[in-house]
Amino acid sequence: MSTCLVTGAAGFIGSHLSSRLLDDGWNVIGLDGFTDTYDPSEKLARAAALSRHRRFRLVAGDLVDLPVKSLLRGTEVVFHLAGRPGVRPSFRQGRLYHHDNVEASARLVAAAQGSATVRRIVHASSSSLYGNAPVPFSETAPVAPISPYGRTKLAAEKTILAANGDGLETVALRYFTVYGPDQRPDLALRRFAEAALRGAHLHVLGDGTQSRDFTYVDDIVEATVLAATAPVAGMAVNIGGGSRVALLDAIQLLEHLAGKPVRVRHEPVARGDVRHTEADLTRARELLGFRPRVAFADGYAEEVAWIRSRLRGRSAAISRPPAALRLPRAA
Ligand SMILES: NC(=O)c1ccc[n+]([C@@H]2O[C@H](COP(=O)([O-])OP(=O)(O)OC[C@H]3O[C@@H](n4cnc5c(N)ncnc54)[C@H](O)[C@@H]3O)[C@@H](O)[C@H]2O)c1
Repeated sequence: MSTCLVTGAAGFIGSHLSSRLLDDGWNVIGLDGFTDTYDPSEKLARAAALSRHRRFRLVAGDLVDLPVKSLLRGTEVVFHLAGRPGVRPSFRQGRLYHHDNVEASARLVAAAQGSATVRRIVHASSSSLYGNAPVPFSETAPVAPISPYGRTKLAAEKTILAANGDGLETVALRYFTVYGPDQRPDLALRRFAEAALRGAHLHVLGDGTQSRDFTYVDDIVEATVLAATAPVAGMAVNIGGGSRVALLDAIQLLEHLAGKPVRVRHEPVARGDVRHTEADLTRARELLGFRPRVAFADGYAEEVAWIRSRLRGRSAAISRPPAALRLPRAA
């Protein structure tokens, strides 16, 4: 049985990936620092669900401080998903972004280079490296990130790819906006769906004609698993969903999925937000054998169903307080 390390295992994508690797028969060491980028209870719940599996071992701590080299003993593949995501906060929190994206990646690489067993690192890079380049983005196009987040992801990718060689193989997957059940709470598709189902306004930054290549989380996981063995060492590879969707079109679909009209409020475009993203998937197709399978309408329906059941669960919990909080009935 093979052993892998998943960094960021309690995160949105890392938890889906860990679950898939366990299903595939791997021993999974899941490392996570439970950073406070969003409600840590979401990360704790994911880690608790994974910990029920007997081949999963949780290591809680900061990648920068942990003795990573000893964790890598016996590990063959490292899936490096730990990082500080999000464009907007990166303009105010440069130091934290540098710590979680740049320093953490450098520590991991140094430890893997000293390991006798690690043969490959698969790194979660980002479409944000391309900035406002013309679409579709090709891996051979010059990169020009327009946010501190993008710049720290670029620095991390460079560090990872520079380590390819001397018995260690490295690959950087440039993920394009990932969505699906358990999506991060700061991302637009989840914020929109939560607002729509609650009957609140959707806050759209800009006129809504900006577009994204949305990638369903199962497709991202499939590509990430393929990258552990495919002939992609030393390369960056785009992983996208196969179509580009304007925010206004996503909102129209949401109206249908929510079963009621949605109310939109437009706000100024946020600093660092790019106009359009779209992945050229030629390399992913030819070298990884990857093809996205989930169409946006189906994937968003899954996410909205997940959000609906989550909101129902929460209102049931509010209307029925836990036993410990229930007052004894008067005799
Ligand atoms: N979600 C997307 O659309 C998207 C797109 C492109 C790239 N990515 C990249 O994919 C990765 C996963 O993204 P996600 O959406 O699942 O985010 P997430 O925030 O849900 O998961 C990241 C996890 O990494 C952990 N972490 C952060 N810094 C750490 C450190 N120093 N030590 C240990 N653990 C640490 C966090 O606690 C978190 O659980 C990130 O590297 C992100 O940059 C995500």
